[in-house]
Amino acid sequence: MQVLQVEGLTKNFGGLRAVDGVDLTVESGEILGLIGPNGAGKTTLFNLISGTIKPSAGKVTFLGENIFGLKPYTICRKGLVRTFQSCKIFPELTVFQNVILGAFFGTSEKKSWEQAALQTREILEFVGLAHLSDVPAANLTLLDQKQVEVARALATQPKLLMLDEMMAGLNPAEVEAAMTLVQKIRDQGITIIMIEHVMKAIMNICGRIVVLDHGKKVAEGSPKEISTNKKVIEIYLGE
Ligand SMILES: Nc1ncnc2c1ncn2[C@@H]1O[C@H](COP(=O)(O)OP(=O)(O)OP(=O)(O)O)[C@@H](O)[C@H]1O
Ligand SMILES: [Mg+2]
Repeated sequence: MQVLQVEGLTKNFGGLRAVDGVDLTVESGEILGLIGPNGAGKTTLFNLISGTIKPSAGKVTFLGENIFGLKPYTICRKGLVRTFQSCKIFPELTVFQNVILGAFFGTSEKKSWEQAALQTREILEFVGLAHLSDVPAANLTLLDQKQVEVARALATQPKLLMLDEMMAGLNPAEVEAAMTLVQKIRDQGITIIMIEHVMKAIMNICGRIVVLDHGKKVAEGSPKEISTNKKVIEIYLGE
């Protein structure tokens, strides 16, 4: 089943076409990798799909419903959630408080404090942050802060989770931990699109990879196909 269909998605910033007629489909249960050089348009594509910025043209269908141009909170409540390249958690709030916000405001389901708190505790257990529940988010390591953002996203009970450079700035052991978490989330039935420059993670956990360059989709395939694709090698290494 297709979770997301993107057709001809385009964004112009003045004279710059940051995303240029991108077509994309995402299948239920997959981990799709989105790669490309700096400035390729990866984050802009996430911004367009998640409603953070308005598309110039195109079509976005999520679970069979047109979500083109809807507000981010409306899209989130339909089950499509994203994290940010530069972590956007509330530093002065505790880990628990950050995550319960997702449980309260990220779904249209009405719930009591007790229900939201129970759900938050379960998610903190799941991502391995339960022992840090009462710590202000500002005091955490980068990995833990990123996991708080992922936990908050999970608290919205998404069908599709879009991760923007979750592994950036992590050491090799932390990258391993983040890879394990992403796979665990997928195993819960949540479909994932991940933007990543950490090739080890992309090659090991993504079933399929899409490559953007100058706003255009230039390649798509399995990790093996992408790693031997002539165009992709040219983009990354030069001719
Ligand atoms: N709000 C904006 N206004 C004007 N230009 C923008 C805006 N957002 C992004 N751009 C431009 O659009 C292009 C694509 O940027 P984007 O952030 O999507 O790239 P990216 O692939 O995510 O890169 P990186 O790997 O460095 O995160 C860049 O040239 C960027 O400067
Ligand atoms: Mg980016």
